[in-house]
Amino acid sequence: MQYADLLIENHGKVAVIRLNRPKAMNALNDNMMNELGDALYKFDADPAVHVIILTGSEKVFAAGADIAAMANYTYADTYPGNYIGRNWEHILNIRKPVIGVVSGYALGGGCELAMMCDFLIAADSAKFGQPEIKVGVTPGAGGTQRLPRAIGKSKAMDMLLTARMIDAAEAERTGLVSRVFPADKIMEEALKIAESIAAMPVTVAMAIKDSVNRAYETTLTEGVRYERRYFHAAFGTPAQKEGMAAFLEKRPANFEGK
Ligand code: CAA
Repeated sequence: MQYADLLIENHGKVAVIRLNRPKAMNALNDNMMNELGDALYKFDADPAVHVIILTGSEKVFAAGADIAAMANYTYADTYPGNYIGRNWEHILNIRKPVIGVVSGYALGGGCELAMMCDFLIAADSAKFGQPEIKVGVTPGAGGTQRLPRAIGKSKAMDMLLTARMIDAAEAERTGLVSRVFPADKIMEEALKIAESIAAMPVTVAMAIKDSVNRAYETTLTEGVRYERRYFHAAFGTPAQKEGMAAFLEKRPANFEGK
């Protein structure tokens, strides 16, 4: 796959998508978001890929929506043209696990895109922020909705209203990211995590992802009912037969092709 604003790497069952507009701090423009949707859908449909990593460069994940591109937009360009809605949320349709790996800045739309990943791993250089207020707009890709769900109302309001950045330690403390690694080890560690998931049955990983995401859209009772359906259905799969037989036979499970 060749893209103007993305770099693609294949690591066995793990596909890596790198945002790549170095001259503009990986600012997210229409072309990049169209390409990102295209790459994500291709990997989601590829049976050889089990896990996707979305990352940026060492210096920046993404510094937000492209301010130069949108500075002269009018209401007619944004509302009828469905700015953001038209191409930013393809990632939410991806059924395989997507791990966000953040080094350096994840600001504005960059922080929002990161929060659309299933979980986040950060380098100790990471800085997260929602500075939209400083350029005269509200967040537009879910910052006011996903940030309070991720880190609680008080921290989220603080970040959104003051535009202050939080560092990797604060992001881990507040639950925005799951793990932090030294910047020079981040991709190595991220690949290890992705490969450990990719070695597990992809069908179960997809079901877990779908069930967890359901928790944010439904009641507890309905969510548990939803999970139970996947649990029952698992007993009709080769992964369950292999996983439980391997446990009882005291050998490693082989989920190849499952
Ligand atoms: N859009 C367009 N270009 C951007 C950009 C953005 N969001 N962020 C950085 N750039 C460009 C700069 O204009 C600069 O370009 P030139 O070299 O042509 O002048 C280049 O990237 C390097 O940036 P800086 O010189 O500013 O680099 P720095 O190291 O001094 O600062 C930074 C880095 C702190 C990330 C700073 O660039 C910055 O604050 N960027 C803007 C962050 C921001 O406000 N993001 C929110 C955007 S609005 C949004 O995202 C809406 C939404 O919710 C969807």
